[in-house]
Amino acid sequence: MRIKIAPSILSADFSKLGLELKKIKLAGADLIHVDVMDGRFVPNITIGPVVVKFIRKSTTLALDVHLMIQNPAKYVGAFVNAGSDMITVHIETVSLKELQAIGQGLKKSKVKLGISLNPGTPLAKIKPALGLVDFILVMSVNPGFGGQAFIPGAIKKIRQLRAIFAKDIAVDGGINNITAKQVIAAGANVLVAGSYIFGAKNIKQAIDSLR
Ligand code: DX5
Ligand code: ZN
Repeated sequence: MRIKIAPSILSADFSKLGLELKKIKLAGADLIHVDVMDGRFVPNITIGPVVVKFIRKSTTLALDVHLMIQNPAKYVGAFVNAGSDMITVHIETVSLKELQAIGQGLKKSKVKLGISLNPGTPLAKIKPALGLVDFILVMSVNPGFGGQAFIPGAIKKIRQLRAIFAKDIAVDGGINNITAKQVIAAGANVLVAGSYIFGAKNIKQAIDSLR
């Protein structure tokens, strides 16, 4: 499987976001990872559909929108209209029935659906949802902030998931050149990275080192 790199713009300079988007595209990014936080599901507030709409206008790369919000079903439509290509909701925030309904809506709009699970959530919790989604996003930090340390328990989770799931497995949190190797060896093929990429002197080198 080809390794895809999804820089998380949470670590970008929002005062020159257009420029940052250009830079990561030139450096070889595959997706733009957009972290949406509501101050309820996670202890931080970031951006909403208004900003996603302008990101959409500023890049041709696919927008991978990570919803760390309660009641995602209420907001998915707004993020689709804003131009998302992929939408991830957390298993901790939806019932299976809600997930099914979200999936049906997204299929009509040709938007991919992902499900994410926190470090403390067992793999068993997402097993019933595997048939409903296009990809899984394994959290390797407790969501809320960029720049946190990788939680090693994610490696075993990825390995167990890879044995039963053939589509994309993404991993998010604390990814750098060292942890990237470990998660790729375990079976992940999409790497989300914020501080490692945007904090690097040479962004292209940073992205290449993850691959
Ligand atoms: C964490 C976010 C991540 C975060 C990753 O709540 O979902 O996408 O921006 O940042 P780093 O790569 O710095 O851990
Ligand atoms: Zn994220």
